[in-house]
Amino acid sequence: MASPTLICDTEPWKNLKNHVDEIKKTHLRDLMSDTERCQSMMVEFDGMLLDYSRQNATPETTDKLYQLAEAAHLKEKINRMYSGEHINSTENRSVLHVALRAPRDSVINSDGNNVVPEVWKVLDKIQEFSERVRSGFWVGATGKALKDVVAVGIGGSFLGPLFVHTALQTDPEAIESSRGRQLRFLANVDPIDVAKSINGLNPETTLVVVVSKTFTTAETMLNARTLREWISAALGPSAVAKHMVAVSTNLTLVEKFGIDPENAFAFWDWVGGRYSVCSAVGVMPLSLQYGFSVVEKFLKGALSIDQHFYSAPFEKNIPVLLGLLSVWNVSFLGHPARAILPYSQALEKFAPHIQQVSMESNGKGVSIDGVVLPFEAGEIDFGEPGTNGQHSFYQLIHQGRVIPCDFIGVVKSQQPVYLKGEVVSNHDELMSNFFAQPDALAYGKTPEQLQKENVPPHLIPHKTFSGNRPSLSLLLPSLNAYNIGQLLAIYEHRIAVEGFIWGINSFDQWGVELGKSLATQVRKQLHAARTKGEPIEGFNFSTTALLTRYLEASSD
Ligand code: F6P
Repeated sequence: MASPTLICDTEPWKNLKNHVDEIKKTHLRDLMSDTERCQSMMVEFDGMLLDYSRQNATPETTDKLYQLAEAAHLKEKINRMYSGEHINSTENRSVLHVALRAPRDSVINSDGNNVVPEVWKVLDKIQEFSERVRSGFWVGATGKALKDVVAVGIGGSFLGPLFVHTALQTDPEAIESSRGRQLRFLANVDPIDVAKSINGLNPETTLVVVVSKTFTTAETMLNARTLREWISAALGPSAVAKHMVAVSTNLTLVEKFGIDPENAFAFWDWVGGRYSVCSAVGVMPLSLQYGFSVVEKFLKGALSIDQHFYSAPFEKNIPVLLGLLSVWNVSFLGHPARAILPYSQALEKFAPHIQQVSMESNGKGVSIDGVVLPFEAGEIDFGEPGTNGQHSFYQLIHQGRVIPCDFIGVVKSQQPVYLKGEVVSNHDELMSNFFAQPDALAYGKTPEQLQKENVPPHLIPHKTFSGNRPSLSLLLPSLNAYNIGQLLAIYEHRIAVEGFIWGINSFDQWGVELGKSLATQVRKQLHAARTKGEPIEGFNFSTTALLTRYLEASSD
């Protein structure tokens, strides 16, 4: 593949740079009156509707973005990912989370091996194990059924499963299948999180699932030792075998920790941590809580998007369009942030999950070949469900900084409420906001409009909304396990598209290492100070002063 080293050196990138001035002359108020343009900016797939007509873009912009995609060899890069090439070059690994939801009879190779049979071997094992636990066949050390699960893990071994669990918790089918059961998560090494995760739980009825790709992550290992102690103290050390299982790629360390490898559920180095929710990382705790058949529907939803992403032409391809529009907003229009605004309380953990997938993947400063980027890649993701966010940070979005927004809505509520005598349901009320906010951002309110409303002149500047603020709307038919899987995969692939265009490696995360190694040094010093009274040394003045204060004050 002969390509210039950096995408910003290509003609399509330069054409888009030149195109910015034209777009800056437009206003969404006018663009939205062009029905043909708006029609061309709507895409349907499998009952969902993407409307990106409120982007600061015209069909000319999208054409130029497709040319950029071609210059970045986007299609080839997607194909290389699906065919198991080592596209994560700094770790010399394939990137095959799509294999985690592939049908049993498909063939996806990594290093010459079809990985699909291995994936299904683990899925079958999870199905069998989770059914034994759920049916009370597998019991705890005192013979009681294990109805509560604490999943211990952090980062990608936590955020994805938490998002899916939170989204399923109010789904009628999932409520039915999880009756009498609890799933909790323990992520933070803060002892407060330990206390919260086991508060009110009885070790006799609790199963701990330690989830760690590496089985070395300091926080997870300390939390796992803490819960092992909690179980042993209550039920004796031999109870650990019945009350602790693991999900990891490192089965040697699982065994060393004291968990029977028979009770370990594997995944592979070709699954990135933040892309691992469809591996045993998510499938195991979620199957224990909801049953394997619900989780299988979630996997099928993700698969439907994998197939769409692989085969749909770019102009009809939802993840590709979303990825290209994000690149447009970040690299050309200069908007560094993106707000993820689901109008569904069930999706309250979606933004935190996407924050990791996106920011750990694309928060990079060099190209995949190690060349320092002369442009900024990645974006700042944040979000909250609507309408809560409207009463929090939307002020800034409406009248402060320009932040492209993703509005995500659902046609059918998981939990509809119809009050007697009221035609507009509670869900209609929620969705009224979902439909109103994008127009408020796009159109704004002019001083002339305010004058006509007899607003006092001194308030006009305060009540003016500039408008022309970009957003997109994604309307899902409902929010069940299948749609949740679709939503996950749409964002996973969108983020990959952005990285492919920017020419970075979206699948490594070296940026998290420095802080980890400095924490190890601090831990050593704390140990030496507490055990041998050694003075704090080797740090700058500031850190030494803070550590000294911490040691003095905590030994009172
Ligand atoms: O924060 C860095 C990171 O390596 C993430 O990428 C990963 O998901 C998380 O830590 C947890 O890692 P592990 O699953 O190995 O415990």
